[in-house]
Amino acid sequence: MTADNQVTFQDRMLSLGLARVSEAAAIASSRLIGRGDEKAADAAATEAMRTQLNMLDIKGTVVIGEGERDEAPMLYIGEEVGTGKGEEVDIALDPLEGTTLTAKAMPNALTVVAMGPRYSMLHAPDVYMDKLAIGPGYPDGLVDLDMAPAERIRVFAEAKGCKSEDVTVCILERPRHQDMIAEVRETGASIRLITDGDVAGVMHCAQPDETGIDMYMGSGGAPEGVLAAAALKCMGGQIQGKLLFRNDDEVSRARSAGIEDLDAKYTRDDMIKADVLFSATGVTNGSILRGAHRVGKYLETETLLMRSRTGSVRRLCYKTQNF
Ligand code: FBP
Repeated sequence: MTADNQVTFQDRMLSLGLARVSEAAAIASSRLIGRGDEKAADAAATEAMRTQLNMLDIKGTVVIGEGERDEAPMLYIGEEVGTGKGEEVDIALDPLEGTTLTAKAMPNALTVVAMGPRYSMLHAPDVYMDKLAIGPGYPDGLVDLDMAPAERIRVFAEAKGCKSEDVTVCILERPRHQDMIAEVRETGASIRLITDGDVAGVMHCAQPDETGIDMYMGSGGAPEGVLAAAALKCMGGQIQGKLLFRNDDEVSRARSAGIEDLDAKYTRDDMIKADVLFSATGVTNGSILRGAHRVGKYLETETLLMRSRTGSVRRLCYKTQNF
């Protein structure tokens, strides 16, 4: 099946199953919130996610996963998942987006999984990606990675009908972003600095009334960029991404992932070329999702389950005594 052959993508049937996948990962990693052990939290989420994925009637291929086959024991890129009985699908996942956030019990850690028809997702190698995102309701290409940060804010403010001072930009707090942060500050815009978790950072732009964030910019993981594109394909909004290479090894990773044009600028729909399902469950409390928490004998989770084909958004509250 090709990405164009969307008729056969049974996204309606598969969507509730996908919610179970991110839920299970959140439940498993919730035991490790605030325990200072990133690796254990990630391993627990990964194992739970894989077990649930393997129960789905799909012929799934992990295209965005935990790493290359030789570095990730589970959910590595190219791993086949599902019962093998259903249709062929691409899977992008991050069993725990925000391992440090979880280990330190800080906000906005999520479990994330997206599914689309086979060959519909960009096979982004594990390198950095320069990212720029805004929410829905603006003309296509309003802001661009080729614009300087100050210019992005100026055109965005004009389109929103506000002053630059009224724009809020989310940026990962990293030394590599020092100049960008300084330039954004010069415009008078407000900056929401985050320590980790740029999938949530980008998703925040799609719900500016709730999160107060208008724009996301800066570099982070390329796999997270594809997951964020899947989220925005369902929620509305724009993202641009450009792969960044620090050495020859990263270039050869890209080449072996089938990337020919190393300077390409990818739009949301270049990264996610067909209908997609997206499910994220909160691990720690955040602006978009409540984290996994105890209520009496139960553990309760909140999941955001979305389908791009219909634009449907479900918030699922799940209670379990099995945790
Ligand atoms: P992990 O959960 O895998 O640790 O990733 C967290 C994260 O903050 C991502 O959201 C982001 O894309 C990436 O790390 C940024 O990488 P770096 O920490 O190297 O700047």
